[in-house]
Amino acid sequence: MSSKQKLIMLPGPTNVSDRVMRAMLKPVINHRGDAFRELYKGVQGKTKHLFQTQGEVIVFSSSGTGGVEAAVLNLIRPGDVAVVPVFGEFSARLAEEVELAGGTAVKVASEFGTAPSLEELSKAMDKVGKVKALFLVHNETSTGVAVPYVREACRMAKAHGAFAVVDAISSLGGYAIPVDEWGVDICITGSQKCVAAPPGLALLSISGGVVDFLKKDPPKTRYFDIPRYLEYGSRGETPFTPALPLFYALDEALSELLEEGFTRRVQRHDEMSALLYDGVARMGLKAVASPQVRSKTVVATFYPAGVDDAAFRKALSHDHDIVVAGGFGPFAGKVFRIGCMGQVNAEYVDRTLKAVAETLKMPKPA
Ligand SMILES: Cc1ncc(COP(=O)(O)O)c(C=O)c1O
Repeated sequence: MSSKQKLIMLPGPTNVSDRVMRAMLKPVINHRGDAFRELYKGVQGKTKHLFQTQGEVIVFSSSGTGGVEAAVLNLIRPGDVAVVPVFGEFSARLAEEVELAGGTAVKVASEFGTAPSLEELSKAMDKVGKVKALFLVHNETSTGVAVPYVREACRMAKAHGAFAVVDAISSLGGYAIPVDEWGVDICITGSQKCVAAPPGLALLSISGGVVDFLKKDPPKTRYFDIPRYLEYGSRGETPFTPALPLFYALDEALSELLEEGFTRRVQRHDEMSALLYDGVARMGLKAVASPQVRSKTVVATFYPAGVDDAAFRKALSHDHDIVVAGGFGPFAGKVFRIGCMGQVNAEYVDRTLKAVAETLKMPKPA
């Protein structure tokens, strides 16, 4: 990373290596030519490693929300019922997406900072009976809560004959989600989080069950038409003009990830988040999430009394060149969130903790 840049400790976008940034300077090419086909086939292969799948993968030229919207628009038809655990901003948006598509979202809600239990999900599924899909946000970026039961929830969805969709936008790469083994029908992640590429691409895994369903019941969407992406993808193309520089960057970022080794990358996220939680605890700060559900990629912490959120983050950025995020909804002004994603290492963690400790000492407003 260039020393002039700020250290981006946001829960995405996150720091991108010079190697990945430079990849975007490659020439613009014909997206219907051999050079692009080779590039995209390479990206597809590496993306399959990321999702640990032998199935299909797609890369959309859209932010993560596009990937979520694609999952909903391809699976939900008017009148369908989906179960959606709602425990923060992104899971609330997912429930809204289901409703916008004409479905009913049965929300299994829990307070910000917690996650609904598996038993609550189970009860909701039993009550609904005919569930079309479970839409589960794995890692609620807005609160720093990660559900510990992705595998079990997917199994439960299967037992109800429902599709299991997992929004792993802020977690995949920092966590392993082996989609074939765990029975995830659609898993979504974003380029700007643990993959450590620039923002602007959504990566999806698609199960055989989804492919079969869409053959019988094609989706009513053009840009996010999954069967169309799969048809073009089989020859190394995308239906619509891809964001070429971002594809170059993603290719390089995935190479970096695979060179490090997927297991090692996940371990590094474990280690760095442990250091961050330990560091904030030693400052006397309280993490939002309890240890059972705390996220490895988003460390959300309550401010001590009297700290002004905007002033704190401004000082951190101005005096230390470190950028962290504030809180969402009921946590706005009360919580700050440190991203622990992608390139995160012991030096970044150390710098961040020292800067946070120093900045918290700043004079409080009278
Ligand atoms: C869990 C989750 N879902 C969805 C999104 C939306 O992704 P994007 O902002 O890339 O559209 C985010 C973004 O932070 C997220 O963290």
